[in-house]
Amino acid sequence: QNMHFLESCPSTQIAAHQLAQEDAPDGTVVLTEEQTAGRGRMARRWHSAANKGIWMSVILRPDVPPQKAPQFTLVTAVAVVRAIEQVTGLKPEIKWPNDILLNGKKCTGILTELQSDADGIQALIIGIGLNVNQLREDFDPEVQDIATSLKMESGDDVDRKQLVSSILYFLEQYSDLYIAEGFGMLKLMWESYSSTIGRPVRARMAKETLEGMAEGITEDGVLQLRTPDGKLHGIYSADIEM
Ligand code: BTN
Repeated sequence: QNMHFLESCPSTQIAAHQLAQEDAPDGTVVLTEEQTAGRGRMARRWHSAANKGIWMSVILRPDVPPQKAPQFTLVTAVAVVRAIEQVTGLKPEIKWPNDILLNGKKCTGILTELQSDADGIQALIIGIGLNVNQLREDFDPEVQDIATSLKMESGDDVDRKQLVSSILYFLEQYSDLYIAEGFGMLKLMWESYSSTIGRPVRARMAKETLEGMAEGITEDGVLQLRTPDGKLHGIYSADIEM
């Protein structure tokens, strides 16, 4: 497999975008011990302590139309949850669309970016940030109350190599399943791990905030939120509060 190990870099997303432009093949992986400018969704920073986490980007080149790209974030979330379960025995939950929580605190973020042109998707760059062996004091003060790590939840050091190989195993298996058979089976798996579905939530979007019951996700990965007036809203991108 095409694996790139870096000691330090600004962001594995940037490195992977570069490699994808240089025709790196499907399945190329970039891993680093430290990111100096890790990035999260909505132009946020991602705190990436040295040697304690998994900071990784995976290049996929699926032969699917661009409207089938957003589901890869959800497919990745299912793969990471399965890997965490397999390696640590912990029981993570997924918060739509892409946060993985343990005891209500975030241990993993996923950022999917697209390189596309008139011919369709050229590459998907799937970034995974997983807090593995940090202790509370390893996090920046501003995220200490909302972030957690596998070590903080399990009490044990976790083998990052084992976790990376488990994530890549499930990611390959589930992205192949999604490409071959569609989102149906994965949607059920995603919903079974979800902390969002069946609960009242507040969805903060760029222009408005909606409160209601999260009823499920569609085949397109769109969150279905029912407001008290009985209307069903499709949420494409938002911050969810519960
Ligand atoms: C989020 O929850 O906002 C997404 C965070 C994604 C972080 C990962 S770490 C590896 C990859 N490189 C980055 O700069 N970001 C992603």
